[in-house]
Amino acid sequence: MGDLVLITGGAGFIGSHLTDELLKRGYRVRIIDNLLPQVHGSVSVKPSYLNPEAEFIRADICDSEALRKALKGVKAVFHLAASVGVGQSMYQIKKYTQTNNIGTSVLLENLLHTSVEKLVVASSMSIYGEGLYKGSDGFIHNTTIRTVDQLRKAQWDLCCEDGTVMEPLPTPESKVPCLASIYALSKYDQERMCLLIGNAYNIPTVALRFFNVYGTRQALSNPYTGVLAIFASRYLNSRPPMIFEDGKQRRDFVHVYDVCTACCCALERCIANLSINIGSGIYYSISQVALELSKVLGKTDIEPLISGKFRIGDIRHCFADITLAKNVLGYKPKITLEKGLIELAAWLENQIAHDKLDIANSELVARGLTS
Ligand SMILES: NC(=O)c1ccc[n+]([C@@H]2O[C@H](COP(=O)([O-])OP(=O)(O)OC[C@H]3O[C@@H](n4cnc5c(N)ncnc54)[C@H](O)[C@@H]3O)[C@@H](O)[C@H]2O)c1
Repeated sequence: MGDLVLITGGAGFIGSHLTDELLKRGYRVRIIDNLLPQVHGSVSVKPSYLNPEAEFIRADICDSEALRKALKGVKAVFHLAASVGVGQSMYQIKKYTQTNNIGTSVLLENLLHTSVEKLVVASSMSIYGEGLYKGSDGFIHNTTIRTVDQLRKAQWDLCCEDGTVMEPLPTPESKVPCLASIYALSKYDQERMCLLIGNAYNIPTVALRFFNVYGTRQALSNPYTGVLAIFASRYLNSRPPMIFEDGKQRRDFVHVYDVCTACCCALERCIANLSINIGSGIYYSISQVALELSKVLGKTDIEPLISGKFRIGDIRHCFADITLAKNVLGYKPKITLEKGLIELAAWLENQIAHDKLDIANSELVARGLTS
């Protein structure tokens, strides 16, 4: 019998794919997930895509008793349970802190003195804030930010003192974190707490800093996270995707299959005490990605709406330097955006997407968090 692996948040988008991959590799999988209504709908039933071979425990990550039971006989833990959403975290501060920070502390307390031999925690690119930049003088800028004043004037790019636009570079793990939202702060806390306790108690621990993950099973009706899912739900409702700023902001889209492969390598390789970027290493602008999606959905007649609006805390560019992942995990992303979008489109054909973007936006407007 294969080793037993626990996935917190295993009913979610990434967790469910990871479940499939681990079962395929001969592991036994146990999931603990509270089926958060924002992700799973108000009836919060076990999603039909969830692999029936996995053992499922419906419980909150803050439920110490449930976790103690869930950890029985477990050899490795993937900690994925989290409240996910940058903008929303700026007003649901308690909820994000409760799930992400307190939830991680409850997991870690219960992890001590168990049979767990590996911990892998889902961290996020959001901890970097802006990515790495090079100025026209060749100087590398590690801690650049955009001021609200600058955004009000629609000066989207990061500039040197002489006014020249800085060049965005692939962001390595050594980039100084710049925490611009409660979500980012909580993801950084999750990462540091896991690495710190793992190191102190000799539980080999790895933090994987995911970039923009996309693929099937992404919650289409959750307007708070996942730009591709948000755009898809707009197209499926014959409405234009709303693009902030000028649409030229660059992101790194990585397919969930590649993410799950990286997770398995982190589990199986003899590594510890590391934070590793998991992206594709390739950037696309947000406008480009909207266009590519419209092509595979046959919706090129719908022009994205380039709003010129902005969200406080949003970054201009961030894409991954994946050298460390290649070196220590043997990671090599396989799914190109073109291929990944074709698969996504085939899945989307049978999905009903409730477009709740206007609700999410009006929540930000009401709090002065968007222009
Ligand atoms: N999807 C991305 O692009 C991305 C990028 C960076 C990091 N991440 C991280 O990866 C992890 C998984 O993300 P995802 O995209 O699969 O999100 P998701 O929302 O689809 O999955 C999260 C799961 O956690 C569960 N959950 C939430 N609160 C819980 C609680 N209090 N107790 C128990 N379960 C709870 C939800 O029900 C859900 O099934 C998260 O930690 C997220 O921060 C995701």
